[in-house]
Amino acid sequence: MEPCHYEGEALWIERACLTDIAAAVGTPCYVYSRAALEQNWLAFDAAFGDYPHQICYAVKANGSLAILDLLGRLGSGFDIVSGGELERVLYVGGDPSQVVFSGVGKSKAEIRRALQAGIKCLNLESDAELYRVDDVAEQLGLKAPIAIRINPDIDAKTHPYIATGLRDNKFGIAVEAAVETYRVACAMDHVEVLGVACHIGSQLIELSPFLNALERIIDFIFELQNEGIELTHLDLGGGLGIRYGDESPPLPREYIVALLEILHRRDCALPVSIEPGRSIVGNAGVLLTRVEYLKENAWRNFVVVDAAMNDLIRPALYQAWHDVLPVKRADGKHSKVYDIVGPVCESGDFLAKDRRLATAEGEVLAVGSAGAYGFVLSSNYNARPRAAEVMVDGDEFHLVRPRETFDQMLGHESRFPG
Ligand code: LLP
Repeated sequence: MEPCHYEGEALWIERACLTDIAAAVGTPCYVYSRAALEQNWLAFDAAFGDYPHQICYAVKANGSLAILDLLGRLGSGFDIVSGGELERVLYVGGDPSQVVFSGVGKSKAEIRRALQAGIKCLNLESDAELYRVDDVAEQLGLKAPIAIRINPDIDAKTHPYIATGLRDNKFGIAVEAAVETYRVACAMDHVEVLGVACHIGSQLIELSPFLNALERIIDFIFELQNEGIELTHLDLGGGLGIRYGDESPPLPREYIVALLEILHRRDCALPVSIEPGRSIVGNAGVLLTRVEYLKENAWRNFVVVDAAMNDLIRPALYQAWHDVLPVKRADGKHSKVYDIVGPVCESGDFLAKDRRLATAEGEVLAVGSAGAYGFVLSSNYNARPRAAEVMVDGDEFHLVRPRETFDQMLGHESRFPG
């Protein structure tokens, strides 16, 4: 659970004590490490060396303004999937010319706004979308920069909900069909064909699916070249996995070096964009939660905490495993095996199962590797306000999103009129 470590009995993140943060801000609360976030981004950047590249952080993994702001300051580009994510990037001064727009269902309004903002590239996922983009660009009197996302039919060997590169998935255009899409695009007046894009899934813990996808894309690029279609960039998507428990995914450096080796061997020198999300922010964050009750029956022991599936849905949705650590280490003698559950009225509301812990009412627990797809997937289910978010920087911490209030939760609704 980097970047946390115990000093004596207390759990720290950078040089800030998590007990102090929980006391000051309350729980549930997401806590991020600026240093971890930046190191993770810089690891990708350094691995490319002189090779022309662009790192477009996948905003969907965690779109909190403080995170976008810090990454933007490092020079990051952004991968967005909605008009809302574009507004977030623009709000923090992100450079639109470094933004790529992915997703199967872009609305006309989203396409219009993205083109007007001057983003780098729309990654298109269907012929219908190509025609729509051409139309919108014509109305605006400009040329839309595009790439086509191809679906290479490769098994990413990850949870089926987050595998995207198989032909049964809704994403991309099959390699066999995509040549024709490029022909059509090249003949359009309001489209400028820049590149090719691919994203085969998320939380990949092996290199081989990435490398097989790259080989297939390079074959495809050569096929286009034979047709006289020259591309100027290659977007390889995101997907590099992180360590939640006992996985040992490749390091960013190993991943990038392996990609560059293939590009070199295949004599392909196109500039590369990548769209990492989880591998930048996942292990830079934890979720703090306080124990409300210990509850036991004849069969199981429960720790009922104040965070729930509305705060972190990954265990319920993907059977995801997150580490759980006490922020104040207790005497192991009294440990028991517990399910760590929230207050939401569903049996699917658990953060972890079968964990040996020594804890007590009022203690704070840290749920690890919660920086990616944590806060962004949170909701107001059971009318629970959304958690606070804190960014730690050395020995300081900053409240970057206060806990949602009941007024904020209710304020934009109205009673039935009349
Ligand atoms: N690019 C595209 C086109 C994507 O669809 C995604 C993730 C990424 C980049 C970033 O992938 P990453 O580097 O973060 O793996 N909610 C799920 C993950 C959904 C991923 C969706 N697409 C989870 O909590 O595991």
